This record gives sequence, C-alpha cells and structure tokens, in this order.
Amino acid sequence: SPTSSVITLRINGEAHTLPVDHRTTLLDALRERLDLTGTKKGCDQGQCGACTVLLDGRRTVACLQFAVAAEGREITTIEGVADGDRLHPVQQAFLDLDGFQCGYCTPGQICSAIGAIEEHAAGLPSAVTRDIRPEAGPPPLTDDEIRERMSGNLCRCGAYVSIVEAVARAAGARQDGRS
Ligand code: FES
Repeated sequence: SPTSSVITLRINGEAHTLPVDHRTTLLDALRERLDLTGTKKGCDQGQCGACTVLLDGRRTVACLQFAVAAEGREITTIEGVADGDRLHPVQQAFLDLDGFQCGYCTPGQICSAIGAIEEHAAGLPSAVTRDIRPEAGPPPLTDDEIRERMSGNLCRCGAYVSIVEAVARAAGARQDGRS
C-alpha cells in the first residue's frame, strides 16, 4: 500500500496541497512543510501543549495528529487567530497581563485558551467537573476551572498566575484585569 499521499489541508481559511508521508504529524507538516512555525514543538509526545491548534474549533495537540487525518477539517493555528491587524481578545489579554515569560509556550497557551473559553461557553464540562457533577453542567469560569481546563499546557517559566488572569480577562470573567 502507498506510504505517501497528496493531501489538501485547510489552514486559517486557506487550502494547502502537499504530498506527505503517512507518518508525518500535523505538527511537522505545519512547521517543516508549510513554514507555519508559530506552532511550537516542545515534547513531541502529547504532554506539553506547545503544539496546540484548533481542529474545527476544538483543541488538539498537533504532535499526536497525523497530517492525513486532518484533511477535511478546518485547522486554525496561532497565525490565524487575529483578525487582520486586530489581535484576538485572548492575544490582547496575554499581552496586557504579561501571560508569558520566554514565550515558547504562548502560541499553544493562546490556542488552548481560545478553545477552552469556547468549550466552557458551549456548556462542555471540564474533565474534572464531568466526573464530579455529571448533571450539574459547567460551573462558572473560576480560576480553578481555568487552571483545570488549561492543565494540558505547561509553562516552564511558571507564568501560570498571569496566564490564568489573561484567560479570565479574555473570557469576560474579570472586568478590569487583576483582582
Ligand atoms: Fe505536542 Fe508537546 S509538542 S504536546
């Protein structure tokens, strides 16, 4: 059977057609084949969240996804979240509230936060709340809830306090920043 195919990926609203080996991850296709290097490679094993992108609006770690399996999905990377020159509200909040130090994990943090806020707004419980209170629906987006929903994204600098502040601000859970 063939070990490579020509596939078309829809990324940030644009179609990209490329031949890929079937073992190529979405992460390597983005970074090495399409020069979309905003998506970062940390562990390459699904454990750090640096490679988080949105697939049909839902978060996924691109290092555990084969590129061929992303065909037909709408892929959004950090390069595609702003609206022209206007930053996405999550990007703006990370800037305003210093939600980063070295910045390496930031694209993944931001894509993950966009997905997390959307999942919460859509009424999807977090992993923890689903187990604890199956019928109660999602709780308010407290700091604990944000920490839980963002727990797949590691920050080696330990900027977590500011990251939670930024996610809360972007989600409208804070009116005026630090509280
Ligand atoms: Fe994909 Fe770490 S690089 S989760």
